[in-house]
Amino acid sequence: MSSSPGSAIAVSLVFSLLFFGHSAAVTRNYKFDIRLQNVTRLCSTKSIITVNGKFPGPRIVAREGDRVVIKVVNHVPNNASIHWHGIRQLRSGWYDGPSYITQCPIQTGQSYTYNFSIIGQRGTLWWHAHISWLRATLHGPFIILPAKGASYPFPKPHREVPVIFGEWWKADTEAVISQALQTGGGPNVSDSYTINGLPGPSANCSANETFKLRVKPGKTYLLRLINAALNDDLFFSIANHTVTIVEADALYVKPFTTDVLVIAPGQTTNVLLHTKLNPTKMTFVMAARPYFTGQGTFDNNTVFGLLEYKTPGASNPSILNLQIPTLPPINGTSAVANFSNRFRSLASAQFPANVPQQVDKKFFFTVGLGSNPCPKNQTCQGPNGSKFAASINNISFVNPTIAILQSYFSGQAGKVVTTNFPAFPLIPFNYTGPPPNNTLVINGTKVLVVPFNTTVEVILQDTSILGAESHPFHLHGHNFFVVGQGFGNFDPNKDPQSFNLVDPVERNTIGVPSGGWAAIRFRTDNPGVWFMHCHFEVHLSWGLKMAWLVLDGELPNQKLPPPPSDLPKC
Ligand code: C2O
Repeated sequence: MSSSPGSAIAVSLVFSLLFFGHSAAVTRNYKFDIRLQNVTRLCSTKSIITVNGKFPGPRIVAREGDRVVIKVVNHVPNNASIHWHGIRQLRSGWYDGPSYITQCPIQTGQSYTYNFSIIGQRGTLWWHAHISWLRATLHGPFIILPAKGASYPFPKPHREVPVIFGEWWKADTEAVISQALQTGGGPNVSDSYTINGLPGPSANCSANETFKLRVKPGKTYLLRLINAALNDDLFFSIANHTVTIVEADALYVKPFTTDVLVIAPGQTTNVLLHTKLNPTKMTFVMAARPYFTGQGTFDNNTVFGLLEYKTPGASNPSILNLQIPTLPPINGTSAVANFSNRFRSLASAQFPANVPQQVDKKFFFTVGLGSNPCPKNQTCQGPNGSKFAASINNISFVNPTIAILQSYFSGQAGKVVTTNFPAFPLIPFNYTGPPPNNTLVINGTKVLVVPFNTTVEVILQDTSILGAESHPFHLHGHNFFVVGQGFGNFDPNKDPQSFNLVDPVERNTIGVPSGGWAAIRFRTDNPGVWFMHCHFEVHLSWGLKMAWLVLDGELPNQKLPPPPSDLPKC
């Protein structure tokens, strides 16, 4: 305890910060009750797992620098955990949320209080369940406003509107994935996409399940776009309107204007919509539909919403009479590449792009599909009678039975994981050429150990095994710079020459080009166990995931503190 004069100084310092400073951090408290709720969509009612009975779930709003405390109570039969997608969790890895990676899931009747500070981040992120397919209905926006007194690096919008894309199954999504894992085949595809939980007028009875964005002429709206769909990249466009992209994954970018955008599962994008001063019509259609290049089936529906200039209550115009926005073809890989190549970090004095110029450790990860043998006495519906699997460097990740971070912290990591995740493919091959005959994966729980403060480069190389496909790759606990991307096989002699080390986009989720590669760099400045995976939920279920173990640094503020006392047990 300090002496009383010291305390008096401390108290007056706190007061002056409260009254004059910008750094008066606030604690935002939330309570998440995970419970069942009946919801009607596409003419039928089903009971879904929700937070507080809401679909999509409630939004969290905080400012940069705030502490956020969320008490999550599980009232459903399923085990659950919540991930705060994109939050750095600096030295708070116990609250990151992926089940069996940083925590055991919260069991029925139990609770866990997530408690973390938002450091050096502002923008749109989101939260979602991180176990099985529960995130289909357990997700919502996580909005980080600039610190008090700070402003956006663009004109202040008239209004801000979260726009969440989702995917709706008439069937129970847990039954969908468990059946697929049982048979080894692809899961049944969704019945509709949704905008803010609404499928639009695709079914006869669903016209009033249409998202409507009501706007005034001549104003600027900030749309906070979130792709919470389970398995699909989406194109999105608003008829006769362009938008200006200003942020990706809660990081400012150099603004650019586009009439169509593409957003991969896990990604978030802030766009400015300038409404027309004298609109020729009062209602415009917005539409989203998938970008897909794989070999399997997919939900081929388009979800429509409306941009309405007129006051509510007027008669609903039939979408049939309105102009539908033009979207690229379903397999429009060149449109996707052109769009994603336009992203650049803002790289201003206030928001610099601290791209690692030197690389301490290089890695090369192949990402793609593969197969597991069909068990005896069973017929399987996967490729050639096998079971679908997916892998990184041919390792298909198997969830451990205790969370890796817990076991590591208690010195028991050796019981649940091995530290021999391959840094390079075990057997190099022509990754994007004709697929090899042997598509079998190796199943295991392997992590990659890296010291604190290592600069890392990873080449993410798509494979054409069972079909080339784009993979939205997400890293927990860090952002990364996308220093390069291209098609075909990465060429280590030629391709690094064109890396952008000045203002590459920084994000937490990157679409690895279908039949191509992406090069990312980051610094391991956050001790803990960090999941990295494809954000297509079906690929996650098939094992397209791995974990980094970032060791503590030497200094006290470079170490992960001990776990909280209410950390769930397995
Ligand atoms: Cu948004 Cu590990 O995921």
